[in-house]
Amino acid sequence: MSPFLLTRTLPEDAAGAALRADVLEGLTGSPRTLPPKWFYDAHGSELFERITALPEYYPTRAEREILVARSGEIAAAAGARTLVELGSGSSEKTRYLIDALTDLRTYVPVDVSESALTRAGQALVAERPGLDVHALVADFTARLTLPRTPGPRLVAFLGGTIGNLLPAERAAFLSSVRGLLAPGDALLLGTDLVKDERVLVRAYDDAAGVTAAFNKNVLTVLNRELGADFDPASFDHVALWDARHEWIEMRLRSRPAQTVKVPALDLAVDFAAGEELRTEVSAKFRKEGVRAELAAAGLELARWWTDDAGRFALSLSVVR
Ligand code: SAH
Ligand code: TRP
Repeated sequence: MSPFLLTRTLPEDAAGAALRADVLEGLTGSPRTLPPKWFYDAHGSELFERITALPEYYPTRAEREILVARSGEIAAAAGARTLVELGSGSSEKTRYLIDALTDLRTYVPVDVSESALTRAGQALVAERPGLDVHALVADFTARLTLPRTPGPRLVAFLGGTIGNLLPAERAAFLSSVRGLLAPGDALLLGTDLVKDERVLVRAYDDAAGVTAAFNKNVLTVLNRELGADFDPASFDHVALWDARHEWIEMRLRSRPAQTVKVPALDLAVDFAAGEELRTEVSAKFRKEGVRAELAAAGLELARWWTDDAGRFALSLSVVR
């Protein structure tokens, strides 16, 4: 077997059908929304990598600091032979875990972005002889079927990506992850923490405009995939703190009144001047909230680590 294997779990047109269904529901609802997983085409994945290096975007650095300091403890507690990573992207920070897990045989990165999986997976098998990489192109919010690999299994969900799910989606997601775990398996979860509003807003509205470009890229995806005629330049990037929900909300605001056509959906969408489209939430957490959400899914928070500045947390739940 080749040490790098890539499996597309979606049937040929499933992604297209899901995109059409999501976009139809989102654009005809009130307020208008778009689901975040469609940000990550090849260009979107590249823009996200640039976000992770921005001076304002602290989560990647904070989570890396924790992994550098704690991967040994995490590995000792998990003892995994298979590492599954949901929303793995570039797998850049994952290397600390891979190096600390001395019994690790197989790494299973799961992502909707095939380009990110291929790049990351091929680099890893070249760097780490003896490691099998079995990449899955899959939607982690759908029912996942993991390859049959030796346990114990550690499922990692890093980057604070769980915050991009709405509360009900998070509950369903955590329950389905719990269903993937057997006794002795573990979940490692990265959550960004509630903090000063200005720090949060800057992280999602950087001076160089990379986050704005990332946000608008979803319109380019709709133009390409659905033949839509969005003019990204006529929309402004908006990032605001919703104190009630404790999440950052990303929006696109139509400057003029305009009608956008989406031929693949046989749809014309009227935007009023200044009307906003919600593209993403990024929820911020507190320890007791994380503990409660894990418990509701049948998972028990066993360990909790933060970076020195207390900006970001990693938690570990081990299934008994
Ligand atoms: N884990 C990396 C990347 C985080 S960005 C890090 O911490 O830096 C979020 C990643 O999740 C992207 O690579 C994106 O393609 C992927 N993603 C988003 N929604 C997804 C979904 N529903 N199913 C699978 N992957 C998804
Ligand atoms: N998981 C990342 C986060 O919530 C994703 C992200 C960062 C993002 N910046 C963004 C998503 C800007 C949309 C727009 O921090």
